[in-house]
Amino acid sequence: MDTDRLLRELTDFLRIPSVSTNASHNADCRAAAEWVAGELRRLGCRDVQFLASGTHPVVWGVGPEVPGAPTLLIYGHYDVQPPEPLDEWTTPPFEPTVRDGKLFARGAADDKGQVFCLLKAIEERGGRPPVNFRFLIEGEEEYGSRVLFELLRREPERTRADAVLIADMAYIAPRWPAVYTTLRGLCYAEITVRTAKSDLHSGEFGGAAPNAHEELARLLGRLKTPDGKVHVPGLYASVKRPSKVELATWKRLPFREAEFLKHRVQAKALTGLKSYSVLERLWALPTFEIHGITGGFTGDGAKTVIPAEATAKVSLRLVPDQKLKAVERQLVAAVRRLAPKHVQASVRFLHGADPATVKVTHPAFKLLDQAFREVVGRGTVPARAGGSIPVVPALGKGGAPVILTGIGLPDDRLHAPNEKLDLKQLWDGIRVFGRFYELLASL
Ligand code: BES
Ligand code: MN
Ligand code: MN
Repeated sequence: MDTDRLLRELTDFLRIPSVSTNASHNADCRAAAEWVAGELRRLGCRDVQFLASGTHPVVWGVGPEVPGAPTLLIYGHYDVQPPEPLDEWTTPPFEPTVRDGKLFARGAADDKGQVFCLLKAIEERGGRPPVNFRFLIEGEEEYGSRVLFELLRREPERTRADAVLIADMAYIAPRWPAVYTTLRGLCYAEITVRTAKSDLHSGEFGGAAPNAHEELARLLGRLKTPDGKVHVPGLYASVKRPSKVELATWKRLPFREAEFLKHRVQAKALTGLKSYSVLERLWALPTFEIHGITGGFTGDGAKTVIPAEATAKVSLRLVPDQKLKAVERQLVAAVRRLAPKHVQASVRFLHGADPATVKVTHPAFKLLDQAFREVVGRGTVPARAGGSIPVVPALGKGGAPVILTGIGLPDDRLHAPNEKLDLKQLWDGIRVFGRFYELLASL
């Protein structure tokens, strides 16, 4: 394996600032799509297309035909999350840099580095691909996959395959590859509070006029109790506890709560419902998080004003058996109930996803397990994931098993400053997936 060349190629991909949520990066998203399309053509794909290219195109490819062999659909995303805060990066997010065997860049692990891994695993094997490949590499996973959703609703036959492979996750710990049985869903919203016709002088009016930020802060404070229970009526009604057997298997995973706090969260304490284990809180319970609050005066210097409007970006994570549509209704009802009469509160939904559950009994999972075992010395442990990939339920609709795995590590800092990918994970991953494709051919 020519790792110098591979590293140069991945660096070219990572240099493109394909931030999908920000329209000023639309041309960059297209450039990243072009990069993917170029790779697919190099792999001998006959039919490389940009689908639904009104926004960031979905890159579709059909690999060389291998009569009699199974069909494997590879899904991934070329878009990335915004890199801010920039001053916390040791080296700039779109100037990929290797330090200590790790490649630092936005998208290194999520998901460009992993898409790269799946594609190079085909190329590095050399010769004809062993199975019939289909590719769906999209450019708006990081803000809800709306375009791909609509595409798959119109053209469900795109998902026709014997298996779907997604590498957009991590090992459960170093040397412990994983396969994921659930993903959480997501309900992302803006809650806006309006208290007056316009901003007011805080000297003239302070003491008698309502303050939008104060009202919003109180409202947000009421949406979750201090012990971590989300105060949205009905939210927990459909939440099922994992079985005793599943909870027992989690106890045997290489996960220690104290170590998680000290090395991964790096805070003073963990929060949330103390009567549940940390893994249960991360994987099997819904959440409510505040992402940011805007409005009022936040510029340099000081301005004495009573803001008339304030907005919070928030999201809830959903777990299996919860439904996005129902949770949206529950959130609206909760906000209405918790806002005082003199406050005009509204909720606007930005994007969302249903939770996903996959059975890992299909024979393809055994083959992936074997490939990991041969290359890294340990097979895949089944685990759940706290994150979301919106189109996973849609990808599984045609009945193909959706294999959720990945080559990241838990300390990759996804969505945060100094995101990285360990290069050893990448080189191993190229061998693992190459072997998996070969094994799959015999299915
Ligand atoms: N790769 C992640 C999903 C993920 C992360 C799964 C960690 C399991 C563990 C994906 O790119 C992601 O970040 N998804 C978003 C989806 C959302 C914006 C609709 C997420 O989970 O926030
Ligand atoms: Mn991802
Ligand atoms: Mn992500």
